[in-house]
Amino acid sequence: MKRSEAKAHIEKLRLEIEEHNHRYYVLNEPAISDFEYDILLNELETLEKKFPEFIVDGSPTHKVGSDITKEFTQYEHRYPMLSLGNTYNEEEVREFDSRVRKATSEPIEYVCELKFDGASISILYKNGELFRALTRGDGTRGDDVTMNVKTIKSIPKKITDKRIPSEFVIRGEIVMPRAVFNKLNDERSEEDIIPFANPRNAAAGTLKLLDPRIVASRSLDCLVYYLLSEEIPHDNHFENLKEASEWGFKVPDSIRLCRSIEDIFQFISHWDSERKNLPYDTDGVVIKVNSLTLQKELGDTAKSPRWAIAYKFKAEQATTRLLSVTFQVGRTGNVTPVANLEPVLLSGSTVKRATLHNADQIALLDLHLNDMVYVEKGGEIIPKIVGVDHSFRNENSKRIEFISHCPECGTSLVKNDGEANHYCPNYLHCPPQIKGRIEHFISRKAMDIDGLGEETIDLLFSKKLIRNFSDLYDLTLEQLVPLERLGEKSASNILKSIRKSVDTPYPRVLYALGIRHVGETVAKIICKEFRSIDDLINSDPERLISVSEIGPKIAASIVAYFTDNENLEIIRRLKLIGIRFSDENRPILTGNSLDGKVIVISGLFLEHSRDEYKDIIERNGGKNSSSISGNTSFVLAGEKMGQSKKEKAQKFGVPLINEMEFLKIIGED
Ligand code: IVH
Repeated sequence: MKRSEAKAHIEKLRLEIEEHNHRYYVLNEPAISDFEYDILLNELETLEKKFPEFIVDGSPTHKVGSDITKEFTQYEHRYPMLSLGNTYNEEEVREFDSRVRKATSEPIEYVCELKFDGASISILYKNGELFRALTRGDGTRGDDVTMNVKTIKSIPKKITDKRIPSEFVIRGEIVMPRAVFNKLNDERSEEDIIPFANPRNAAAGTLKLLDPRIVASRSLDCLVYYLLSEEIPHDNHFENLKEASEWGFKVPDSIRLCRSIEDIFQFISHWDSERKNLPYDTDGVVIKVNSLTLQKELGDTAKSPRWAIAYKFKAEQATTRLLSVTFQVGRTGNVTPVANLEPVLLSGSTVKRATLHNADQIALLDLHLNDMVYVEKGGEIIPKIVGVDHSFRNENSKRIEFISHCPECGTSLVKNDGEANHYCPNYLHCPPQIKGRIEHFISRKAMDIDGLGEETIDLLFSKKLIRNFSDLYDLTLEQLVPLERLGEKSASNILKSIRKSVDTPYPRVLYALGIRHVGETVAKIICKEFRSIDDLINSDPERLISVSEIGPKIAASIVAYFTDNENLEIIRRLKLIGIRFSDENRPILTGNSLDGKVIVISGLFLEHSRDEYKDIIERNGGKNSSSISGNTSFVLAGEKMGQSKKEKAQKFGVPLINEMEFLKIIGED
């Protein structure tokens, strides 16, 4: 590779890896498997070694990915939180062993541990009390998630054992048992919430929730693997972990002392097959030098200790033939390539299709028709293609090209700079986009119209009974009853549900419009700032961007939406029907659901102002109080609730009720 090419490739890899870091650590929505990620990182490392002049400060090869989010306060780690060097092959484990042996003539002891797949946590104890729990963050500073960590049963809040150091840090992995994960995802699917891709994402996402009561309900567990202190009890890792287990921490029974490389490989091969019987996901084995003195001698690199290495298990893979690639168009016009495969058995189920993400992914794999491809499940719900077996490629096989035109409406596809996806810009007339918008409009969190599934929408659309969602309100019983599979009863229920949706609150109506980048939360924020849709229609990008949480991308999308006459016409029709496009005249509910309750309000709210909430509490029989005490029934907890209030509530055992739960209690959800 030429120097100039290497420079460009290094920069591209860096950006790509940083994007994946953000998706993995902050959004908890990885787009590629760990294996694919490691390949990218490895490629960057190799290139940086070959062309050291292009190494920059802060390259992802030199720092750990950051999970820092703005919702939490950050604190500095007492000891930096490094990551681990990892490998997928035995040779590199042997090389690690040789490097370690070079540092000493003494016999070496290793501790082999399972590498549990969750979110790392570092907990500081002072005089036996859990003082503060931090996520890994960027390795130097982490997010303070103490309130959430305190809800985890396997983490002691107070330790009475007299042998403990006055201050120590314990580190471990917060994990979600697979059984809990499956149950949680079933519930989410039922409630139309996007399920978590795997238990790791569910654990990491839960740890960053703002309501500790929901965290408590998710049965997280913590498996500890590292003890740090100025007064460390033993000079070896194994005994320190055993000691921590006596203090009440959960140390996995699987940890073993190994004295030879053969012992290590035996541990690895045993757990590679046995791990499926464990309640938690594991993605490898960590091999650590046992002696702390030797650990110190070996030291650390900028990113990871030289005294430990992770051997990663390969995710379960299968090989099969690529039959074709089809391109799907989603509600927002995004085009996703899907691989159609010769059916193959993978981790107990038959796989016929796999996602290919986007054009870059197809190019990266250099995919050809009839290729033999490696398919991996790796915890994700939709299997993906992670590689191609080139030895089976036929010389004449056709390269897979990304399409240039929409497969549904023929419009030329568009790709914005900096975005990986192609999309169809024919917003108004591309059928899957129109149908997708109608499906979104009727969904539970939007207008919540029952009885109209995807198939019925398809039918109504193909029979030209609806062209956009405002047409739903013109449907009649005579039109619905003759439709296939719809009887009079279902048809009349659908109409009732459509009529009922007229009362949907303004923020949900705004969300239902399906404006690109305006999700549920953004819709709520907008409604607080712009009390009516006319205010919003008349605003300009500068005014929109002045609202925190609204960036240029969202602002541009809102402005573009309201510049379109067809959208304005839909809104005009919805207004005539009586759909709410403002928060004014919103009736404040009165009742007795809060009779006798003493309530403290704290934090910021989306649906009503604090004063409105005070009023609502009184109108529903409750009493407002400004400070938390043993008498407080609950705290109405908004976002950014103060830490001291949280601690006080915890001390008095006062529950925190979030805004949505509160609105449910008073019947305004
Ligand atoms: S040792 C300096 N041991 O793997 C020591 N890490 O990059 C560093 N992990 O997210 C960590 N199980 O949370 C260690 N038995 C184990 C582990 C483990 C899981 C995670 C850790 C971090 C990643 C290492």
